[in-house]
Amino acid sequence: MMDLQVVAKPLQEQETEMLVLTVFEDELKKQDYFLALDEKLGGKIARIIESGEVQGKFREFTILHTEGIGPKRILMMGLGKRKDFSLDRIRSIAANSSRYARRIQAKEMAIHDFASCDVNPADSAEAIMEGVLLGMYRFDKYKSKKKNPSKLLEFVTVIASNEETVAALQAGAHKGKHLAECANYVRDLVNEPANYMTPTIFAERAQTLAEKAGIAIKVLDQAELEAEGMGAFLAVAKGSDEPPKMVVMEYNGKPGAKKIGIVGKGVTFDSGGYDIKPSSGMLRMYGDMAGAAATLGAIHAIALEKLPINVVAVMPLTENLVNGKAFKPSDILTSMSGKTIEVLNTDAEGRLLLCDALTYTQKHHKPDVLVDIATLTGAAIIALGRTVSAVLTNDDNLYTRLYNAGEYCGERVWQLPLYDEFRSQLVSDVADIESVGGRSAGTITAAVFLKEFVDEGQSWAHIDIAGTSLMEEEIARYVKNPYLPKEGGTGTGTRLLYHFVESFVEA
Ligand code: BES
Ligand code: ZN
Ligand code: ZN
Repeated sequence: MMDLQVVAKPLQEQETEMLVLTVFEDELKKQDYFLALDEKLGGKIARIIESGEVQGKFREFTILHTEGIGPKRILMMGLGKRKDFSLDRIRSIAANSSRYARRIQAKEMAIHDFASCDVNPADSAEAIMEGVLLGMYRFDKYKSKKKNPSKLLEFVTVIASNEETVAALQAGAHKGKHLAECANYVRDLVNEPANYMTPTIFAERAQTLAEKAGIAIKVLDQAELEAEGMGAFLAVAKGSDEPPKMVVMEYNGKPGAKKIGIVGKGVTFDSGGYDIKPSSGMLRMYGDMAGAAATLGAIHAIALEKLPINVVAVMPLTENLVNGKAFKPSDILTSMSGKTIEVLNTDAEGRLLLCDALTYTQKHHKPDVLVDIATLTGAAIIALGRTVSAVLTNDDNLYTRLYNAGEYCGERVWQLPLYDEFRSQLVSDVADIESVGGRSAGTITAAVFLKEFVDEGQSWAHIDIAGTSLMEEEIARYVKNPYLPKEGGTGTGTRLLYHFVESFVEA
């Protein structure tokens, strides 16, 4: 458990194992927020800067041992150039600092606010706590020998430069802690291997969380899904012995306010089905429920922050496996909407869950805004790589909100077009629509498929997180993001959806 406090006091008076200071590369001589501290140190910081040992380059860090003042050590962190300063750099620096603190077995650390950095105090404190908590994440549940918990960092002090900003820093810090804890919970869900994360187990986890957070929840079982007529979703589930589930959660933060519907793909393992994946492609498919996990994390964060808004979260859950009952290429399915679908490839299963879940959400909950999030296409990785999620929408206003949310929280998105001409790639000879549109524009044609199930006039956006929801060691080498894990679930989508929903809160 991580605790935090915000105090307004001179840096040199803060009793701490480790005080984090930051310096801009292009303002080494101008930095004055730590002058009084350095005076107490007899100019030690000035000398180390003068000597060139501290240059302020981004990611550079230098440790200084002190005596006779409050902080026992000072960790000098480079911020790079002032023009490149961003909230995301605060997250990175906080992550690297907390990991350094953990390495030297400090149970507590202090960090100054970023008052001299042209950033809103609440936002900066939020970014600090996010960086600390996201950066310290590890998944060692199944290791017999765990790292010694008595040596973990468990307390962070944010030192405010003046009394007036303490309240804002406090609010921001607590919000950042909530958001990061929710994202870390999502990482835990994603990281569970498929034998420990079946649709039933996911639904139980959601149940426990909903009870704790006071969110209304309903779990639809196979019979109820059949009664709803979810022929597309259920076709995917046929090949598995694990029964499918659909979790529906409702958060009512303000009667009469907007209702946002969030739908998340929850394939707890995607073997590809009869169009089976090669082993290299199947390896990380335990993470194919990252959309559902992010949906759960987002509604939890929204409830924790008590946003005055309404949210319905829908999570269709199944495995995509092979047995004697599994669905097959060329099968024709009848979706909940009544539209018939010709299955071209059983590995394009995500859209089959989502189309029925979208129909369900619109029919029973009539959201003002509908968004779905899914590890839907490998093509999203080809198009945008491993740090940017794809957004496709019928409402550019939603794109603007998602873009702004992504820039703010470091979970970036970029838009791909939904031009009508792509619909011709999905024309079927025998059914209303084909499930796959061929090799070209795979992320787009998947979204065009989903759009067929979005009602006229319904404001809707689709987020493809196939590239961003899971980190791999080889990719971490060049992504170099200190608050993302080197391997496994990133929690992507949780904070993005939170800030997206928050953008609808009326002041
Ligand atoms: N879950 C996969 C998409 C995916 C790929 C997620 C790589 C994460 C990393 C999805 O169900 C899938 O298999 N999509 C196919 C669609 C194709 C058959 C049209 C794909 O992307 O190859
Ligand atoms: Zn698939
Ligand atoms: Zn899948």
